[in-house]
Amino acid sequence: MKLKNKVAIVTGSSKGLGLIVVEQLLAEGTFVIGFSRNKTPIDHPNFEGYCLDIGNESAVTETFNNVIKKHNTIDVIINNAGFGDYHKLEETDSQLMRQMFETNVFGVFYLTKCAIPFMKKSQQGHIINISSIAGIVGIENMSVYNGTKFAVKGMSESLYKELRPHGIKVTCILPGSISTNFFDDFDGFTASNTMMNPTDVADSILYCLQSSATFHPVNLEIRPFHISKQ
Ligand SMILES: NC(=O)c1ccc[n+]([C@@H]2O[C@H](COP(=O)([O-])OP(=O)(O)OC[C@H]3O[C@@H](n4cnc5c(N)ncnc54)[C@H](OP(=O)(O)O)[C@@H]3O)[C@@H](O)[C@H]2O)c1
Repeated sequence: MKLKNKVAIVTGSSKGLGLIVVEQLLAEGTFVIGFSRNKTPIDHPNFEGYCLDIGNESAVTETFNNVIKKHNTIDVIINNAGFGDYHKLEETDSQLMRQMFETNVFGVFYLTKCAIPFMKKSQQGHIINISSIAGIVGIENMSVYNGTKFAVKGMSESLYKELRPHGIKVTCILPGSISTNFFDDFDGFTASNTMMNPTDVADSILYCLQSSATFHPVNLEIRPFHISKQ
């Protein structure tokens, strides 16, 4: 897809990977709408930010309807908002588990459900779901996060088959560790330069979006790679 003058929604736009994706899309001439609870630190004529909780269905529907009233169409959805937790299952609070599923899984469902009828009407569109390596491999002390990311991978897998006949692509991105704010609340972990740079991950997302009309990247697994300097 050519990204110039297209309309994209990026969730989790206030920081981390989502913020970089917003900047890269703006550089391509896309009109970008950001969804996150906090304000997105971007001041650009082609950017519009909304503050909302992606796990709140009525907030997502109402905000999406406002976007459609204004722009009439939606070409790209990047379901990126999400968070994790690093605890043994028996130490995990059930309220935290609920909140993680609401953000990481239901948030993807709410926004995607809103967008599909408009993408079907224009017989084109691209939905990018940010899962994780944790969506295909179990990680000790991350069982709840694993559950949310496996769910995103599973939904994406089914949805790409559902939407392919309508000219709509669905791509699931499965990144390893990225150096963002994701680890801020993890005891004993900090983001480091052995992790992937969010700019490189955003480049891969744009590569998928810019794939030709006859090419469909379904899953993209990306991991850190460091050549040891001896
Ligand atoms: N960093 C990694 O190692 C890694 C690896 C694989 C996959 N991922 C995935 O990549 C995605 C982006 O994470 P990141 O690394 O960029 O983390 P981050 O720096 O913590 O950013 C997370 C973003 O999600 C937003 N968000 C969280 N809860 C939200 C909610 N309820 N409603 C709306 N927005 C919400 C945050 O904004 P507000 O706080 O302003 O709402 C923020 O903009 C996540 O889905 C994460 O699971 C990350």
